[in-house]
Amino acid sequence: PKPYAAGFVHPPVLPYTTVQDANGPYRLFTVSERQSVANILPGLTTPVYGYNGSVPGPIVKVPQGTRARLRVRNQLPATGNPLSGQAFNTSTHLHGSASLPQYDGYANDVTEPGEYKDYLYPNWQPARTLWYHDHNVMTTAQNAYSGLAAQYHLSDEAERALLPQGSYDVAMTVSDAMFAADGKLAYEDNSHSGLWGDVVLVNGQPWPVLKVKPKIYRFRVLNASISRSYRFKLSNGAPLNVVATDGGLMPRTQPVTSYRHAGAERYEVLIDFSKYPVGTTIDLTNLSNPNNVDYDHTNKVMRFVVSDPATLPADQPGSWTPSTVPTTLVASEAMGLTPAMATNKAYMRLERTNGQFAINGRTWHDIEASGFTSLLTNPRPDEVGLWTIENSSGGWFHPLHIHLIDFQIVSRNGVAPFAYEKGPKDVVYVGEGETVKVLMKFTLNPGGGTSGGNAGGRYMVHCHNLPHEDHDMMTQFAVGDPTV
Ligand code: C2O
Ligand code: CU
Repeated sequence: PKPYAAGFVHPPVLPYTTVQDANGPYRLFTVSERQSVANILPGLTTPVYGYNGSVPGPIVKVPQGTRARLRVRNQLPATGNPLSGQAFNTSTHLHGSASLPQYDGYANDVTEPGEYKDYLYPNWQPARTLWYHDHNVMTTAQNAYSGLAAQYHLSDEAERALLPQGSYDVAMTVSDAMFAADGKLAYEDNSHSGLWGDVVLVNGQPWPVLKVKPKIYRFRVLNASISRSYRFKLSNGAPLNVVATDGGLMPRTQPVTSYRHAGAERYEVLIDFSKYPVGTTIDLTNLSNPNNVDYDHTNKVMRFVVSDPATLPADQPGSWTPSTVPTTLVASEAMGLTPAMATNKAYMRLERTNGQFAINGRTWHDIEASGFTSLLTNPRPDEVGLWTIENSSGGWFHPLHIHLIDFQIVSRNGVAPFAYEKGPKDVVYVGEGETVKVLMKFTLNPGGGTSGGNAGGRYMVHCHNLPHEDHDMMTQFAVGDPTV
């Protein structure tokens, strides 16, 4: 396909019903994982496997303090995923949520075709952009690539008062893909290094064009690529104003000319189109990073065209956008943690051994062989942790994801993290030869009947380059009781 020929598509929003239980009302959402056909390439159709058949899947929207129950029906073919050649089992992870262990999408907790599972989400955390995606053991990469990925927006008062809403709040899921001549998705992964598509998709469309009003827009940028990392930059050099990271609002807006964005990271950026005359074209480009594989058009992402508001659809009800980019977002500094508070220390050495990726010399197979008892570390509830992550794997970068908690990046190679990383995070880009320190508090569900008390349990830690995760760079830690 040609860049800038497709229109921008907004993913659907998932409807819900309100249900009462002993703890009050919650929102019940239902999705079916199933096959459908997408129009991605001109004149061709592409079989995809997504939530409700939509790629990316429908967005879940929930206000802070409202519980959700997500019923996931596996209606995928019993014949398996053609890209993995394996059974189409799934396990759904809500990435960014402090879920109970049994609802966290543990890789080996699988739902088979024909079955369903209900996932309970507490939603007590501050507003953030989360995403739900498949986490099936060994085939997360093929399953997510086939379409099992979607955004989930948790809102709160602070965020609603500061950041654009409604028509000015745009979900932007970036991924890459490669296609066979007949339009089918192709999957190539040499020695599990990664999948590097030659087509960049935004919300499932190749290099789309979005018409914008001369206003400030908020983009919830999720990199749902299997492996690729990006270095985003606007073609006119205008700032990308980073207002939120994985876990929500940053203390202060960080305007950057470009920034590095790995798989599974979420950055919310404001772009101010108000100063441009109608007809102005601005492209979101990708400067790339080491150890990605680039093609003719992987330096392009999408195009914005500033348009006369009279030619665009009217704003959705509840739409709002500020007239200037806000500067201070959170009154108090970061997350209130200092390294001196940390009593839980863990060290993770990311390596490549015998054609597999490992953490401290162990793979997920080793965890399985231990009967799932082997742990990286076992902090107490509310303990503060300081973890060191060292990339000693050679020519690979690793977006390292820790489940359950938000962390603060303390340092990278002994110096302060990038300005745009100074918000709450759950994925950290551990580049080639980098050593990163992260600080976190192992807060469990405060309970209060929100989704049952949380005695703790086991949570995964892994590389979010999904072929690395599947082969086999994943381990686990437990908070409190490790037997849950
Ligand atoms: Cu986005 Cu363990 O996953
Ligand atoms: Cu990796």
